[in-house]
Amino acid sequence: VEIFNLKVPDDYHVHLRQGPMLRFIVGELLKKGFWGRVLAMPNTDPPILTARDALNYRREIDGALAESSPRYGGPFKPLMTIQITEQTTPEMIREAHLAGVVGGKIYPRDVTTNSENGVVDYAKLYPVFAEAEKLGFIVLFHGEHPSREIEGLKKSAAFLNILWPIVRDFPGLRLTLEHISTRDEVEWVRLQKEGQVLATIPPHYATCVLDDVLGYNQPRGRRPHANISLICKPALKTRDDRAALQEAIFSGDKRFAYGSDLAPHLFPAKCEGACGVYNLEAGLPAVIDLAHNNEHLVVDHNRIDILNRFLSVNGALFYGQGFTRDKISFQRKSEEVPRKIAAFVPGSDWPEPHPDRLIVPWKNGEPTNWQFVGRKG
Ligand code: NCD
Ligand code: ZN
Repeated sequence: VEIFNLKVPDDYHVHLRQGPMLRFIVGELLKKGFWGRVLAMPNTDPPILTARDALNYRREIDGALAESSPRYGGPFKPLMTIQITEQTTPEMIREAHLAGVVGGKIYPRDVTTNSENGVVDYAKLYPVFAEAEKLGFIVLFHGEHPSREIEGLKKSAAFLNILWPIVRDFPGLRLTLEHISTRDEVEWVRLQKEGQVLATIPPHYATCVLDDVLGYNQPRGRRPHANISLICKPALKTRDDRAALQEAIFSGDKRFAYGSDLAPHLFPAKCEGACGVYNLEAGLPAVIDLAHNNEHLVVDHNRIDILNRFLSVNGALFYGQGFTRDKISFQRKSEEVPRKIAAFVPGSDWPEPHPDRLIVPWKNGEPTNWQFVGRKG
């Protein structure tokens, strides 16, 4: 069998949620070998807005880790964020920084899940940016333009018009552009200083396009149904955008890191159009496939080295985390992604499988080519 050994991967963009979903997701992440760092997004309901919220959330995550890590290996180290809104003050940034929160995430208002309290006027945040710049507190951007005048597919590229003046006016500000989806963003990131800007790339943006969501790319003979498992914000884009994201990953450039944007929603919410992709089963196998099939990376150790940089080294460098020596293995083996996954945790409010608590994973009913086998050695 063909084996792929990777450094233990980090994930710099995860929606862990709260309550029973959090306990479920933490266990699932550990089962899949995420024993490194996991950056927790703050768009929970209610949101994580202050240092105190972040400490409470951290406690909840630690509780879930204590429950699951003896069973599945791990734990991972949670890295905490707060949400920056138009009400966030410089004092709130200072307090979060002192509490060990690594950064603040800015959502454009009403664009994505739980973003009703998001930002419309980025100029209002200048005092917050000044404080973040001073402290080395990282600002994370969901890079879509909040204006209703700008069409959805153009929102990612248009957001760069908001970012340019921010990097000009705060040259020391360290920031991330989350889940990039376009060639324009890749090119923008390449123009920024290493160590100053990081972009995360989720596996579905690197391997899928809008046609996959809309059902134009179904295999011959399959119904041309749209694919609700792939509905997300920002929307998936074109083949050219996807090619640019793949080039970014395999360039070895330090400015690009893995952030899955794992975003669980239950099936009833998905049917109502909730945006967010559940990619824990198919994500890493899809990225390994890319490396495996990339004819530009013919030398085997080179291919693995580049993947390790993307999956753990680049993010660790940017977020000031140590490097992992531990490795995990995947074997080449076809494994079908379940059509639905029951979210439950014995002893929680979701103690057993229930028809209203199913998750439709990305690539449900389709095979992946790499099976996670566990810790190497
Ligand atoms: C995310 C979620 O469900 O929280 N959804 C998504 O489509 N990506 C929010 C986000 O990251 O935009
Ligand atoms: Zn997200």
